[in-house]
This record gives sequence, structure tokens and C-alpha cells, in this order.
Amino acid sequence: MISIRRIDQATPAEREGLVGLLIDTVDSGASVGFLAPLAPQAAAEYWRDTLASLGPGKVLWVAEQEGRIVGSVQLAPSLRENSPHRAELQKLFVHSSARGQGLGSRLLDEVERFARSRGITLLVLDTLAGSKAEAVYLHLQWQRVGEVPGWAKDNDGVLRPTVYFFKTLSP
Ligand SMILES: CC(C)(COP(=O)(O)OP(=O)(O)OC[C@H]1O[C@@H](n2cnc3c(N)ncnc32)[C@H](O)[C@@H]1OP(=O)(O)O)[C@@H](O)C(=O)NCCC(=O)NCCS
Repeated sequence: MISIRRIDQATPAEREGLVGLLIDTVDSGASVGFLAPLAPQAAAEYWRDTLASLGPGKVLWVAEQEGRIVGSVQLAPSLRENSPHRAELQKLFVHSSARGQGLGSRLLDEVERFARSRGITLLVLDTLAGSKAEAVYLHLQWQRVGEVPGWAKDNDGVLRPTVYFFKTLSP
């Protein structure tokens, strides 16, 4: 059974699990800010900084299966005076061994439930154009805004486009 929970700090074992999840995600070809092969130290530094930033402007969920972290997702609510209704969905990761079983949808449901409970009615994100993630967001009724060409390098050094999405939530 897979359980999902929001965390505001992590045990050493959870940090290790998050590091493994990020390495698996990058090394399986996802465009999430890093190039493969991802060094454990770089992954550990990323999670150290991310965990240190958790608070009103950054929320983290993890999915666990038999004590092992198999997914995570982040939400960055806007802290601006004019946009407390808006948040950015970031870094949705499902371990390659756990994909295709509905975990991505469950993580996104958790984020939406939380967002609604905080009065957030507009979610935005961007992801690699042409990726499975793009197909997933379209399937889950996110609205496709358009592409920005030449956004980020892939593992072969080729610049690839990103695609922006938004989703409005009823309060
Ligand atoms: C994108 C990712 C998170 C999806 O996770 P997942 O657990 O495999 O996704 P799910 O199995 O929950 O599928 C999500 C939904 O999309 C649907 N779906 C899956 N693949 C699809 C496809 N190619 N086309 C259309 N719909 C698709 C599923 O049926 C499911 O919908 P449902 O809940 O109505 O049945 C996962 O592939 C991943 O971690 N990729 C690498 C990291 C990444 O690219 N993250 C996005 C960065 S923003």
C-alpha cells in the first residue's frame, strides 16, 4: 500500500529516500533541472536546500511504500500581496518502479485538496514539451498555455522546449 503525507522536515532515512528518488527520476530521463547521471552529493544538496526552505512558500508531500519513498511533489504558494490565490506546482516525481499505477494522480489530488483548503484557486506549472508529464497534465484537465522554445538542455546537450499549464480550482 502506498501512503502520501505532507512533511515539514525529514529524518535521515527520508533524506536518503528523497535522494534516491531524485537520482532515479533524473537518470530515467526526466527534465527536472539536472543532467544525468546525477551525483548523490548534488541530489543531497538539492534536498538539503529544499527541506530548509519548507514553510509558507514551499510545501512538500512524499509517497511511501513499505517504508520506501516512491514519490514526491512540491507546491510553492505565492507570498505576494496581490496573489495569495496562486501557487506553482513543482517537481512531481514518481519512482520509475512505481509509475503507471495512479500515484501521479494521487499526488496531484493531495496538492489540489491542500490548495483548496488554503483558498488557492489558480495552479501553474511548466514541464518538458512532448514528455509523458505533458500528456498526464492534459489528461488531468490542466489547460495548456503554450511552449517556450530552447528552455533547457537534455542529456545530449540539445535545447528543448518547456510547456506552461494552468488549472483553476473551484473554492
Ligand atoms: C509524470 C509522472 C509524475 C506520472 O506519474 P505516474 O504515477 O506514472 O502517473 P499515473 O499513473 O498516476 O498517471 C496519471 C494520470 O495520467 C494518465 N496517463 C498516464 N500516462 C498517460 C499518457 N501517456 N497519456 C494520457 N494520459 C496518461 C493516467 O491514466 C492517470 O489518469 P487517471 O488517474 O485518470 O487514470 C511520472 O512519469 C514521473 O515521475 N516522470 C518523471 C518526472 C517528471 O517528468 N515530472 C514532471 C515534472 S513537472
